[in-house]
Amino acid sequence: MSDDFGQEQAIRKLAPGKLVIASHNPGKVREIAELLGPYGIEPISAASLDLPEPEETGTTFIANAELKAMQAADLSGLPALADDSGLCVEALGGDPGLFSARWAGPTRDFGLAMQKVWDGVEAKGPDASRSAHFVCALALAWPDGHVEAFEGRVDGMLVWPPRGDKGFGYDPMFQPLGFDISFGEMDPARKHAMSHRADAFARLVAAAF
Ligand code: IMP
Repeated sequence: MSDDFGQEQAIRKLAPGKLVIASHNPGKVREIAELLGPYGIEPISAASLDLPEPEETGTTFIANAELKAMQAADLSGLPALADDSGLCVEALGGDPGLFSARWAGPTRDFGLAMQKVWDGVEAKGPDASRSAHFVCALALAWPDGHVEAFEGRVDGMLVWPPRGDKGFGYDPMFQPLGFDISFGEMDPARKHAMSHRADAFARLVAAAF
């Protein structure tokens, strides 16, 4: 991070102790707890503190992660971590992007969301790019309003029809660069070691501990 004069600023370190995980998704909270456990972090879920889920009104992944983390830090009086992620498709100008979860509708039907993505790409013609990437933004906020953000990504190609049932969301239609299997066909441990989330966490760990 650099200031207005282009000078590097120190990133605030995260001291061992309580950290609110600003997500109401138990899977995410567990995964984050496992990743940060070795650093003496004691995770507390936002749900256990009855914290509200703010509206994701930001126009970037980082803005949405920051608003979730800052609200949780403000209301709890503790440092808080939040994430925001999605799939960006080159031929669709970056969609579904911030709206990745919303494309699956109220019933969270990712079969439908994947079909919508593929139909959109096909409608661009046979020469349309199949390139796509997943993004994960992580924000760490403190009760005094200070916030740090980290962004990770993984590049790949869309495949059709969807393949594999090991992942979630858009995994079955995403094949990471250098592989001939989709995230949906990949062993979860292998995916977790190379995903956009792994990339963002590696940046956070390198900076904040
Ligand atoms: P949020 O970050 O909870 O707002 O939701 C992000 C949405 O992006 C999820 O509902 C998924 O649809 C999609 N997404 C994010 N990461 C992944 C991934 O690793 N695999 C498949 N889909 C993902």
